[in-house]
Amino acid sequence: MKAIAAVKQILGNLYSSLPQHKIGSAFAPVNIALCKYWGKRDIELNLPITSSFSVALPELGTRTSISILHGEHDRIQLNNQDIAINTQFAERLIEFLDFFRFTSKIHFSVTTTSNIPIGAGLASSASGFAALVLALDKLFGWGLPKQQLSILARLGSGSACRSLWNGFVKWHAGTAADGMDSFAEPMAMIWPDLMLGICMVSTAEKKISSRTAMQRTVTTSKYYNMWPEQVMHDLVAIEAAINKQDFNLLGEVVEANALAMHALMLTTQPPILYTTATTITLMEKVWQLRKAGTQVYFTQDAGPNLKLLFLRKDIALIKKTFNLSSVITLFPSDEYYE
Ligand code: PMV
Repeated sequence: MKAIAAVKQILGNLYSSLPQHKIGSAFAPVNIALCKYWGKRDIELNLPITSSFSVALPELGTRTSISILHGEHDRIQLNNQDIAINTQFAERLIEFLDFFRFTSKIHFSVTTTSNIPIGAGLASSASGFAALVLALDKLFGWGLPKQQLSILARLGSGSACRSLWNGFVKWHAGTAADGMDSFAEPMAMIWPDLMLGICMVSTAEKKISSRTAMQRTVTTSKYYNMWPEQVMHDLVAIEAAINKQDFNLLGEVVEANALAMHALMLTTQPPILYTTATTITLMEKVWQLRKAGTQVYFTQDAGPNLKLLFLRKDIALIKKTFNLSSVITLFPSDEYYE
């Protein structure tokens, strides 16, 4: 298995070492892509076709604790409830834990709490796998650099490799077949006035996973070859917009990037549509408000919910116009990218 080989390469002679602590515990934030990751060049290693760029939501995320369990199988708790090991959630987690089960007798107890809805296109798997990898690092006492932890998190869910930092983060696609050059890194840029609001359309679990949707897009959309070109342009424009603190440029590129990703999904066989009538009503509201002079833009992931980007000066108006479930200051302090 390529993933096990990658884990062995990262851990070196730490592979198969015993846990140094009784428990490892960590928090990781959700990240929202401003330039999306959509398409893999290696399915098993979650290697992307393009680079991507995100911003973390510092208040929202996952806290996970892990310890060794002397039992027959893993024990998984999510938000204070035991999760049956034959559920999709548990199976995905157990499959990932298998990479770190150095003897078949080792089992884990994982306790995870999340203040975001699971599977609703709010990147719960990103903060989940990132928190798990940070917790494993503490349990085993590996002390790995974050770049290496980013590679491990990527093996759980691609976008998880971006959830190890606050602030703006770039995931380098890399070109190596083993994925050792495909990791994320924090960008030393901040934007104190930048805000994000979540317009929750639905918290229900999505019908098609991003994993399936992404793969279907790559294999069946006639237009997929336009995507890497768009991303190349958008990444440059997003970084330039942040450097210049040009909010309209940032918003235009971010919104167009998300719309292009969803447009691509409409061209797959069979088509994929995460957008609902409510999503469209909200999009129209954003466009109307913008026409009337307010600087507000949206992005959308693999679900019907919209995330609004706006500046601190417009908080009152945005809150009045939209029913936001969270309003997040993306850079609550000056050194927030570390
Ligand atoms: O990492 P995954 O498999 O959950 O895919 C993430 C897909 C998007 O959220 C739509 C885009 C992104 O870059 O986060």
